[in-house]
Amino acid sequence: MIYSCYSPTEIIAGEGCVLSFRRFSWLGSRCVIITGKNMHKYNSALSDVQTALNNEKIKFCTVTEAENNPSVKSIFSISSDVKAFNADFIIGIGGGSSMDTAKAVSIAAANDDLNEDNFFSVDYNAPSLPVVLIGTTAGTGSEVMPSAVLTVKGDIPIKKSIKTRNSYAEFALCDYTYTLSMPEAIAVSTALDTICHSIEAAYSKKGGEWSKIYGHAALKHTFPALSAFINGNRDNSLRERLYFGSILGGYAINNGGTSFPHSMGYMLTTMHNIHHGFACAVFISEFVSRISEICDVSDTMSACGVNSVDEFMNMIDNILSAYFEKPHIEQSELAKYAELAMQMNVNNNYLNLSFNDCLNIYIHNCGR
Ligand SMILES: [Fe+2]
Repeated sequence: MIYSCYSPTEIIAGEGCVLSFRRFSWLGSRCVIITGKNMHKYNSALSDVQTALNNEKIKFCTVTEAENNPSVKSIFSISSDVKAFNADFIIGIGGGSSMDTAKAVSIAAANDDLNEDNFFSVDYNAPSLPVVLIGTTAGTGSEVMPSAVLTVKGDIPIKKSIKTRNSYAEFALCDYTYTLSMPEAIAVSTALDTICHSIEAAYSKKGGEWSKIYGHAALKHTFPALSAFINGNRDNSLRERLYFGSILGGYAINNGGTSFPHSMGYMLTTMHNIHHGFACAVFISEFVSRISEICDVSDTMSACGVNSVDEFMNMIDNILSAYFEKPHIEQSELAKYAELAMQMNVNNNYLNLSFNDCLNIYIHNCGR
């Protein structure tokens, strides 16, 4: 059996873990905090970090310019701030976009030869500034991955990811109470993101059994917690399970990567402003249905708590129709999306999708 795994991030989880953390000074004496502009309004993550840094007498500045779906331009703009402050390390606070921004900035700031034009060709062994990540949503799994997904502008913006061997966070401080302020729809969308990560990675070419173990563990926490949440249960223990599930899903994609639900979903996000988890979930039933024709998916279905692929598809359909309206997009437009999706990870599995397959999946799920 051939396998490999590299997951060096140290996780410290639990209520109050940021305030009680005393190892920021291991990373240096000057720090830039990167987050979104409204972070302080939603939870105490930012003020907790600032208090913890003061406790260790670390000088810091706070940059609140992390964009949703960050652009390469924004990475280099924040990187200039980091260099001007002479930071030893970076703390990223927020959802996937803020954490991805922090990781990408950590690469940009440590490599003077990189610029907006050559950023994605960074050497895999290039250095990066140390990073601490603090998630405030439960789905991305970005805390335990080295990659940052960025948006590259164009007529149809596309997603590209960047990573190095050194862009894993040193520490991920995982306090699920920061996720409690997510609006209901965002909580559902991010949980669907975990479900997509877990299933796509479980059937990836490179993830194998390793990703399946983490993916199934993630599904066993996320599915029942999501169902109870949708049925109105607001118990904090459910939110804790959703966050734990997202971290496990992060381990699944760290080894296995994502597949066509993500590659195809990206265009619904960049062009139709559909939240990332919903956008990927539009295609997850198609993925499961097609994979079930070539693989035994019964263990994955039981990890989801369902007895059949049909039951899984019904459940996803019911969730999606309760929370958002699928777009109805012109076929000519979908053909452009399919062309771009084919350049991404559509075939990180054994399905071997062609352009026409990809277009037909788009038409079937969101065509006019
Ligand atoms: Fe995702």
